Amino acid sequence: MSAILYVLAAEPLGQALLKNNNIHGIKIPFSVKESKYFAHADDTALTVADKNLVTEAFKIFDLYSQASGEKINREKSEILCLGSKISEKELEQFGIKPCENVTKLLGIYIGKDKQLCESLNWDEKIKKIKNNFIFNFGSKKELTLPGRATVFSTLTNNKLSTEEKGKMSKRSRDPAINKLREVKAEAESLGVPESIINGMQAVDDLAKAREDYCDNKTSTPSESMAALIKDTLEHPWQNVYEEGKTTWNISPRMMSGNLEGYVLKFLVSASKSKNVLEVGMFTGCSALGMAEVMPDDGKVVTCELDPYLVDLARKFMDRSPHGKKVEILTGPAIESLNGLAKKNEKFDFIFIDADKAGYCDYFNNGHMYASVFINVYQFKYFTSYLHLCTITLVTILLPYHSSNNSRTFDYILRYASQELLAPGGTIAMDNALFGGKPYMEDRPPNEGVTKFNNMIVTRKDIYYVLMPVRDGIMLIRRKEDMNGTV
Ligand SMILES: C[S@@+](CC[C@H](N)C(=O)[O-])C[C@H]1O[C@@H](n2cnc3c(N)ncnc32)[C@H](O)[C@@H]1O
Repeated sequence: MSAILYVLAAEPLGQALLKNNNIHGIKIPFSVKESKYFAHADDTALTVADKNLVTEAFKIFDLYSQASGEKINREKSEILCLGSKISEKELEQFGIKPCENVTKLLGIYIGKDKQLCESLNWDEKIKKIKNNFIFNFGSKKELTLPGRATVFSTLTNNKLSTEEKGKMSKRSRDPAINKLREVKAEAESLGVPESIINGMQAVDDLAKAREDYCDNKTSTPSESMAALIKDTLEHPWQNVYEEGKTTWNISPRMMSGNLEGYVLKFLVSASKSKNVLEVGMFTGCSALGMAEVMPDDGKVVTCELDPYLVDLARKFMDRSPHGKKVEILTGPAIESLNGLAKKNEKFDFIFIDADKAGYCDYFNNGHMYASVFINVYQFKYFTSYLHLCTITLVTILLPYHSSNNSRTFDYILRYASQELLAPGGTIAMDNALFGGKPYMEDRPPNEGVTKFNNMIVTRKDIYYVLMPVRDGIMLIRRKEDMNGTV
């Protein structure tokens, strides 16, 4: 049976378990809801508050078996008892073997041996990060310390958040829609009248229809651009990552796409830009799009960290007659920008679309510190007692000297606005809304894009506008280039 059909067929079982008020699940700290039923493909896990409830759950399993013909694979099933003990007799009654050590719940090891669980959950991931850092970047490439810090930060960020990313891909960029979906799921589990559930779904559908409408009322992409978008979406990202070709597990959702691509094309062509700089190329969607509307002697210089993406984008862009206008600079953007500034290059339009979390440079008693492990990751995982805990990975500080005292983005902006932006030029900064994080109340004001946005509004020498296109584009221009004269 195909996976999707299986999910459909298994849904009544899930609903019956969730809606049965006699079966109580467990309450995870900080969560308002009880968790009792977890399903992934043909794996089902039930977490109940009391062993007596297992019998109740088995009644539902039996009913489902009778109706569907499906059976529990008792050979492959196991019972993990935390807190209270379960007797041999009880186990015999269930016909399921006890879990000796650890078991997996949605890909996370849980069990009585906390140390073993931690080791199984983390050791392999940490090893991969170390190997990638040491072998791919630490020794082979002659990167400067800030360069290594950038690579390491990007690498760890992506590697450690792979599981999270899987979940994210099904989420909307609009936090209001995600909230609506959460409330809808809760309403469904509480048995709220169908008309209200349908109303919530209609709101979700309308938001999607608005996005689709904008897409449909935007010019269609050129043939080579359509091919680039299609090939990016269909690229076997997971495989190339597993084969060690990319430095992290890439999601094609990073691509700007046709709608945002046309916004950039309009800005570039309306400003008659001949020199464009892009920070963060990915597979070349925005770079090629901008090149398409530039004159034959126009040039797009784009920065990309990942060598695999550089090769792939080059192939994609070379299928277009405009691809020759795109020059790729491989490596950490800061180093590329440094090089461009040294050569006194100027750009009419600058599109900034690289890592937003960035990394911090700290100035301490006249010395700069490059934070190698910049982002403090807080990972929630189940301990053996099924409590949600938070692990905080340590921040390592390595000293290096520099005259700069700012975050990456401030740094890029400083470069962009003071050194690289030609007179009359415009900067466009992507992801200014960053999935709603900057305006969510519980978000610290000094993090990533939020900090960047807050910094922008303190600048007296620029005009800025935040356009709610896709994930938000902040346009920035010098006041002196915009003020009229009388
Ligand atoms: C959001 S994607 C860019 C999307 C692209 N502009 C488009 O239109 O499809 C961000 C890209 O920036 C690259 N990147 C991230 N941090 C970087 C850095 N510090 N230097 C250079 N490139 C970086 C990533 O590898 C990724 O390909």
